[in-house]
Amino acid sequence: MSTDTTTSTNTTTADAATPPIDMDKLMGFVFRAVDEVGATLNCALVVMGDRLGYYQALADHGPLVASELARRTGTGERYAAEWLNAQAAGGFVTYDPSSLTYTLPAEHAMALTDPSSPAYLPGFFQIAFGTVRDADRIFDLARDGDGLGWGEHNSDVHIGCERFFRPGYAANLVGEWLPALDGVVAKLEGGAKVHDLGCGHGASTILMAQAYPSTTFVGSDAHGASLDVARERAAEAGVGVRITWESTSATALGGSGYDLVTTFDALHDMGDPVGAARRVHDALASDGTWMVVEPVAGDRVEDNLNPVGRAYYGFSTLLCTPGSLSQDVGLAIGTQAGPARIRDIVTTAGFSSFRIAATTPFNNVFEIRK
Ligand SMILES: C[S@@+](CC[C@H](N)C(=O)[O-])C[C@H]1O[C@@H](n2cnc3c(N)ncnc32)[C@H](O)[C@@H]1O
Repeated sequence: MSTDTTTSTNTTTADAATPPIDMDKLMGFVFRAVDEVGATLNCALVVMGDRLGYYQALADHGPLVASELARRTGTGERYAAEWLNAQAAGGFVTYDPSSLTYTLPAEHAMALTDPSSPAYLPGFFQIAFGTVRDADRIFDLARDGDGLGWGEHNSDVHIGCERFFRPGYAANLVGEWLPALDGVVAKLEGGAKVHDLGCGHGASTILMAQAYPSTTFVGSDAHGASLDVARERAAEAGVGVRITWESTSATALGGSGYDLVTTFDALHDMGDPVGAARRVHDALASDGTWMVVEPVAGDRVEDNLNPVGRAYYGFSTLLCTPGSLSQDVGLAIGTQAGPARIRDIVTTAGFSSFRIAATTPFNNVFEIRK
């Protein structure tokens, strides 16, 4: 290979066989990568701000100087000061050099400190933080194509998952998604039988139980420890007596005659989604409905090359695909499977009706019937 390198204005050429290097493009990429490293570290910094109460103190008492943030949160001043500067450099807080104070803008305060806001973000960071912490194990497993079960992850994955999804369910499930299904709300109001399959910490089950007091619910999940949390949450919410929790895999789903089966952000995590769909088909009443909520996605890779798709492909690689691969069959359809793949799965299992009932920036909602 030639060592003769020629440089003209902003282009470097190694030899005729190698494309010329555009130095502006190279440096643009390097500085974008610097921002990515800052963002990677910010994932932990957001979890730190959430856990140590930095955001809450800024929201309640800002603008604050670093020593005041440290005092109000009972933390070391040097940590508070460095954290604040990192947050200011990333645009999460603003800095006023004349007063040395830091402010959390009202919109950021809503997204970072108000769990009732649909824009609430700490859970998104927490599940990402937990996922990255377990990534070392995934690198080894990926060599042989092996999986890692949902229950084998650290608790930031499980807790972050519930905290991430719950605000979206609270904003959409009762007001938008269930009314988008044909005839379902009337059944729920009159008293129906519902099974929430892959319910995790039960956020969706509890929201539905609160909205429809005449209806009875089963929440099931393959991860028994998640159901222990769900049981506690349901008791706190005052709906525990109307929900039965079953620790079981979807392919062994019990019961029959359900008016509604729901599956929230869990079908793509299953090893055998076709087997699960067959069980749902058997367990539904003849005029029953299966509502499947999946991460928003289009059918083609190029439909998903956007910021939401990027985050979901990341979770797919490190969390959902390993989870599916850890189970029997291990179909591993991925987090961005798209509507056509989901339709294929449910029609293979015997369902004849499939439609997209609703979409949000983060979810597709499918109505599936026999
Ligand atoms: C991303 S979490 C979603 C949890 C919950 N539905 C929510 O929206 O917060 C995926 C859930 O699917 C469950 N899961 C994965 N495979 C399963 C299977 N084969 N049968 C039942 N549950 C399963 C996991 O244990 C986990 O709780």
